[in-house]
Amino acid sequence: MQNLNPLASELNTQLRAASPAVFPLLSKLGKRIYLPKGILSQTAEANTKAHRFNATRAIASEVGDLMHLAVSRELVPTLPLEGIYGYAPVLGQPELRETWKAHLLEKNPSLTGSTLSLPIVTSGMTHGFSLLAELFVDDEDTFILPDKIWGNYRLIFQTKAGANLHTYPFFNAASGFNTHGFREILTHTTNEKLLILLNFPHNPTGYAINPMEAQRIVDAIVMRADTGSRILVMIDDAYAGLWYDAEVMRESLFGLLVGCHPNVVPVKIDGATKEEYAWGLRVAFISFGLEEIAMQPLEQKFSGLIRANTSGASQVSQTLILEAMRASGYAEQKQRNYEILKARALKAKKVASDAAYAKLWEVYPSHAGYFICLNLKSGDAEKVRQRLLEKHGMGTISLGETELRVAYSCLEESDIETVFRTIAKVIEAL
Ligand SMILES: Cc1ncc(COP(=O)(O)O)c(C=O)c1O
Repeated sequence: MQNLNPLASELNTQLRAASPAVFPLLSKLGKRIYLPKGILSQTAEANTKAHRFNATRAIASEVGDLMHLAVSRELVPTLPLEGIYGYAPVLGQPELRETWKAHLLEKNPSLTGSTLSLPIVTSGMTHGFSLLAELFVDDEDTFILPDKIWGNYRLIFQTKAGANLHTYPFFNAASGFNTHGFREILTHTTNEKLLILLNFPHNPTGYAINPMEAQRIVDAIVMRADTGSRILVMIDDAYAGLWYDAEVMRESLFGLLVGCHPNVVPVKIDGATKEEYAWGLRVAFISFGLEEIAMQPLEQKFSGLIRANTSGASQVSQTLILEAMRASGYAEQKQRNYEILKARALKAKKVASDAAYAKLWEVYPSHAGYFICLNLKSGDAEKVRQRLLEKHGMGTISLGETELRVAYSCLEESDIETVFRTIAKVIEAL
């Protein structure tokens, strides 16, 4: 075991004093990590004091501006050079962080009057989850999530971080979110430290919770926190905003969790990835329901972790997201995309739920996001997937024995009937 660096020790002391819940949740690495006062702090000092020559930055300049290649600059002629080629701050562009925070406050009325940190920018949501795994997850930690999940959680939290996954059935008998199963699994885990992950709108089913389910989830977490456990609740909001059904909750569960109990640390992971239609730009955010005094040492720890892997998210990607969010056509264009996705979602639900297909599959409830998921009565979803691909040139995702996920988000509305008719034909021919 290495000795703790005095800077890490100082951050731990600050964190322990600022938030008694956060410190015991940290992993061994989380306790060890810190941001060295090296090149970054010397550069920051020079940026304010070096009036004649600044020879600190590991970049190249030319007549006072960034050296660059015209061949790439011509592709983005209107952006400032710094916003394309310059290094972004480790935790992200300050204006983008402020803009995303304002976006979260606008879209989540429950956050009004609550404590919300300045979002930290990550290189996509996957990077955000990896950072959370590094900061909070140790070998054998108890990690609670439903049986239907986005598969990457397993790779990040189980395979990489070594957590013990404890799962509960996502759906109850009435095809609603299994709030009872969620409460039960919380009751049966006796650990002092708990890690929970929830994702609505949900991948792979497209399920979104209603306000009553949301309250039951919060109540179960509070009940568990009352026993003295410290709980990190990660909310994956990849598909935030893409709600198509009037009955479901149209904001993040995160808003209800902030301030729900002193032992609960809620963290929201969301991103430009799906919300801003910018999958490959790799810009996402981590926001905590924590006071500034706790965020200061925590941000130092995030800075250390980010510095040690990606060193920061792409500058030009952050600039593109920020400028898009400030542009006059932004809201209108987002609404247009939303309407298109909504029309596809409603069509996919109607077509997939046609009585003619009832003997072939059950359709999991889908109210939001990108997906609809079929539970095939004949089983062998993988064989169906392969046949669809080989005989009909149609790509779908098989999950487990019986589930077939269809991303209607990338189907034209006019093709949706054909897609489900073809799936039916393949199942019948097997
Ligand atoms: C539920 C969920 N979370 C996170 C992600 C990953 O986002 P990113 O591409 O930003 O890593 C996805 C991508 O499919 C997803 O479905």
